[in-house]
Amino acid sequence: MNDNDTRHLSWDEWDELKSPRPEATDFDAVVDRALSRRGFLSGVLAFGSGAAVMGTASLMGATSARAQTAASRMGFTPIPAFTDATVHVPEGYGWATLARWGDPLFSDAAPFDPATGIDLASSDKVFGENTDGMELFTVGGRQLIAVNHEYVNPDINLPQTGGDVTSAEDAQKLMNLQGVTVMEVAEGDDGWAIVVDSPMNRRIHHNTPMRLSGPAAGSDLLKTEADPTGTKSLGTFNNCGAGKTPWGTYLTCEENFNGYFGSTDPEATLPEGYARYGIGHDSRYDYEKFDARFDVSKNPNEPHRAGYVVEIDPADPASTPVKRTALGRFKHENAACALAPDGRVVVYMGDDERGEFLYKFVSTGTYSAGGDTSTLLDDGTLYAAIFNDDGTGTWAPLTEDATGMSTAEIHVFTRMAASKVGATTMDRPEWVAVNPVSVEGYCALTNNKNRGLKPNAGGDETPVGGPNPREANKYGQIVRWYPAGDNHASDVFEWDLYVMAGNPEVHDDAYAGSENVNAGNLFNSPDGMMFDTRGLLWIQTDGDDSNEGDFAGMGNNQMLVGDPASGVIERFMTGPKGSEVTGITWSSDLRSLFAGIQHPDAPFPDGEGVLPRSSIVVIKRSDNAMIG
Ligand code: FEO
Ligand code: CA
Ligand code: CA
Repeated sequence: MNDNDTRHLSWDEWDELKSPRPEATDFDAVVDRALSRRGFLSGVLAFGSGAAVMGTASLMGATSARAQTAASRMGFTPIPAFTDATVHVPEGYGWATLARWGDPLFSDAAPFDPATGIDLASSDKVFGENTDGMELFTVGGRQLIAVNHEYVNPDINLPQTGGDVTSAEDAQKLMNLQGVTVMEVAEGDDGWAIVVDSPMNRRIHHNTPMRLSGPAAGSDLLKTEADPTGTKSLGTFNNCGAGKTPWGTYLTCEENFNGYFGSTDPEATLPEGYARYGIGHDSRYDYEKFDARFDVSKNPNEPHRAGYVVEIDPADPASTPVKRTALGRFKHENAACALAPDGRVVVYMGDDERGEFLYKFVSTGTYSAGGDTSTLLDDGTLYAAIFNDDGTGTWAPLTEDATGMSTAEIHVFTRMAASKVGATTMDRPEWVAVNPVSVEGYCALTNNKNRGLKPNAGGDETPVGGPNPREANKYGQIVRWYPAGDNHASDVFEWDLYVMAGNPEVHDDAYAGSENVNAGNLFNSPDGMMFDTRGLLWIQTDGDDSNEGDFAGMGNNQMLVGDPASGVIERFMTGPKGSEVTGITWSSDLRSLFAGIQHPDAPFPDGEGVLPRSSIVVIKRSDNAMIG
């Protein structure tokens, strides 16, 4: 493959190309574990305290009466699948564009030009590319959206070079267009818009000063020539999903950070610990050729300073973002916060790679409104999830005793620590969501073509079973857990599967999906997830939108709404062709819903002949009633 071919690979495809997994050694054993649909339903869907409480029928098939109840609770008429170039919402709802890649946050930014991209001087004054996780904050009467910009498409940002990074200036432009935007938004007579030049507007990118805190900060693993203290770094990378703390700060999650580091010496020996994270000689954007910080042959500890959850205070545009090493280093998808009954802070987090793990952090200190929150995310215990086949599970603490690793090592090489405690290899954990009206957590396991076929990057086997019940899982599922004692800080839980995506029109085995999947709500690859205040689960997809074969009838990527109690799932929105629907938040009055449209292929949002641009759309009911 040449550069142009690899440039258009997704991040997980790029990882598979650069860091291929070894084949499994015992394929026959895996095949033997393949489950019949009958065994699979009785063994997976029909246990767990939730299923017992609700009655297994709730997961085994929605009756029309239950479906009606749930539909009325959702307050919309479900829409069909679409394959076109625009956004669709239910009757009685409308949508508009709030922000597009390149839209100015400050009036001295040059207008966006689809032919020439954005000039360097304007590139840190505009809404960045590839919108992803977001949260809305109300600060002093202002509404602020903090939103991630996960990655860039070099060929459309650097049209003069065909997408090649040929200079420090080219690299800097790409660096400026990623990271995080904090922007004030307001609703006027013409709808919602960015408040250009608001004093709260801010761009955080690959050169923004950050503070490293927590157990790994100051350790030798984090020290570099430029920062001999190991406590100060620059930039946040591949910001994927997000989270919001109880005290009103934004958590941005560094996912595929490995792809930003490379070696100018193709023969350089790479340090131990790189392979598990997919850090190699090649990078995606060639930063290392123009900035030694990204050159692992010169700065081998620099990649240890990425792969964290970063806390940002949107209320203070001058504040320094903090990389919270206590929450571990891996390919962080999002960070879903909950409070234990005693006030300890619990943060659930997925590591999005085939066969990696689900984690949670439990703080040592407790949160109280108005109290000091500055170190709550620095001191606590990190756990990885072990799911047993009988519907029970435990959170295994990643301690020095349990792992044989030092505290600093546990927080820099977290994947290895979780392997040592026997955590369950998962089908790519994407977003976690916590139900606000019931003590339960959900994680989208988006898909895993290697399930049962190849181990993860650390050599851990990925057997078929438990919450990952299908070999070569192309559709994905959502696992749900019920912490013991209704306490998110508990070490034990019970679990079940809320839904297994599938296609009952094509398959009559486990790939048909669970019984709450039907011809009217077909989807694959659940990814973004967020509960609304009523306890309904909004599910966004990032999967195969070919609408053919195994994916026939699913149409474009979409957003659905699930009722946890009934199991009913209905389609609310569809995105334009080629896009992923990712990122969701609500206005402070809950009358507007914001959703992200990332990387559309079709001419969205500005129509035929105009360059597609990642965008945030705002959705409202025509009667202006609440939708969240
Ligand atoms: Fe950035 Fe795993 O999604
Ligand atoms: Ca995602
Ligand atoms: Ca995804």
